[in-house]
Amino acid sequence: MLRQPLLLLSRSAAVQKLVSTMPVSAGIVRSYVPGESTDAVVDATARLADDGLLATLDFLGEDTLDADQAEATTQAYLELLQRLAERGLTRSAEVSVKLSAIGQFLPDNGHKVALENARTICRAARNAGTTVTLDMEDHTTTDSTLTILRELRKDFPETGAVLQAMLHRTEADCRALAHEGSRVRLCKGAYLEPEDVAFQDRIDVDKSYVRCLKVLLAGEGYPMIATHDPRMVEIASSLASRNGREPGSYEFQMLYGIRPEEQRRLAAKGEKVRVYVPYGTEWYGYLMRRLAERPQNLTFFVRSLISK
Ligand code: FDA
Repeated sequence: MLRQPLLLLSRSAAVQKLVSTMPVSAGIVRSYVPGESTDAVVDATARLADDGLLATLDFLGEDTLDADQAEATTQAYLELLQRLAERGLTRSAEVSVKLSAIGQFLPDNGHKVALENARTICRAARNAGTTVTLDMEDHTTTDSTLTILRELRKDFPETGAVLQAMLHRTEADCRALAHEGSRVRLCKGAYLEPEDVAFQDRIDVDKSYVRCLKVLLAGEGYPMIATHDPRMVEIASSLASRNGREPGSYEFQMLYGIRPEEQRRLAAKGEKVRVYVPYGTEWYGYLMRRLAERPQNLTFFVRSLISK
């Protein structure tokens, strides 16, 4: 019931302004975001690596309409990649990039700016010995994001993308991307979407997720199964073995701070597990989407705002 209002608030600049003075160390934020600085996220990556977990790192920010901000975000990724290389962590960590944070929404030439900035990040990732995965934002960006993916893959075929099971189109997108060399992160989808493009009931999203899993795990690509849902994890495991896939020919992915004991359990079983770790000061939209998934956490959030 609270999902819709929380997702609407996730795009409210006024509410963002109101809460964005809150330090990242405050309770609920800290449970999903390990810190603001590059050092903080690199330290978190090292701790995960000590526990046998891989990471994908996201410099928080989205929907920018400012070309300088898009450039600053690109530079932040370059600094991050350099720091990961210095710490010897590029075998266990890659980066996740939201195209709207690097210029996709800029008027006139947003698509082109985002493509060029993404290319810069892909080149730095390649030089550092790691990869980039493009996050997927709301459905209005899907075509542009998949077009940018195709362009990037000409020079950087290791680039991955996210597909969202809640969209009607996604099963077909999975078929198109289930080819050799392709890396697809399958998630349920975190945005508020209209019913003409997306399944509205959880059960229908779950059914779509399973159909997409079947396509990806039977395909030639590298599926990245991004979910905390125990049923989806179980179904993915049995589909993987039914398709003769060994652990390592696919991976499980979960968000930092969500079901950490399950992340470690799967890794201890020999599965490849990657944790999505966001960092930075622009945590508002990310946090609101996490609260929308688990409105029980709203009480903690409000309490931490009041006690600030
Ligand atoms: P579901 O929401 O049904 O949750 C299953 C269980 O997980 C819950 O019962 C609860 O135990 C636990 N859980 C879920 N959310 C929680 C929370 N916030 N706090 C505490 N516990 C929680 N989306 C998108 O639109 N674009 C993207 O690019 C990405 N990228 C991405 C990367 C990775 C690695 C992951 C894991 C997820 C994403 N997502 C995403 C988010 C995704 O679409 C989805 O919103 C969340 O993963 C929640 O969906 P689940 O599959 O976990 O199932």
